[in-house]
Amino acid sequence: MASGRALLEHGLQGLCIFDIVPRLETSKGAIQALAQDFPLAKIVTKAVDVRYEKSVKDAVDATVDALGGVDILLCFAEIARTYPAMEMTPEQWHEILDINATGCFLTSKHVAKYVADNSESVAQNVSRG
Ligand SMILES: NC(=O)c1ccc[n+]([C@@H]2O[C@H](COP(=O)([O-])OP(=O)(O)OC[C@H]3O[C@@H](n4cnc5c(N)ncnc54)[C@H](O)[C@@H]3O)[C@@H](O)[C@H]2O)c1
Repeated sequence: MASGRALLEHGLQGLCIFDIVPRLETSKGAIQALAQDFPLAKIVTKAVDVRYEKSVKDAVDATVDALGGVDILLCFAEIARTYPAMEMTPEQWHEILDINATGCFLTSKHVAKYVADNSESVAQNVSRG
């Protein structure tokens, strides 16, 4: 949200926020505030679970339909978990990798495909470290 706001302050005209349904619900107030602060920008949301390729592909397609393209991708979906390594289960390990790593891969893949299919497009990809 803070990164979206910063980009809007620097002239971004369209923003699509991807998140899971419960978080979109709890973020409604913050998203409305963003829309009020930047009335000329088109701000939309899309419910996505970045672990699943179809969910990501549908969201990227919907973003292109709503905003006319994608110029910047911020891969910030993540979960932070602290398990003692010697007690961590494979399921806990895979949950972290599925969201924090695979989610970023899938989102980058589908935005890259959009860019490759649209020769005039260039997208910048910013991912967490
Ligand atoms: N807050 C910090 O101090 C800090 C510092 C360094 C880096 N970062 C990075 O910045 C990014 C955002 O951090 P934040 O503090 O805003 O965290 P945050 O928890 O507020 O944001 C992460 C978002 O990912 C979403 N998410 C979780 N599972 C998902 C899924 N399966 N599909 C789609 N979305 C999912 C969450 O709902 C949440 O909105 C993270 O990548 C984090 O690593 C944050």
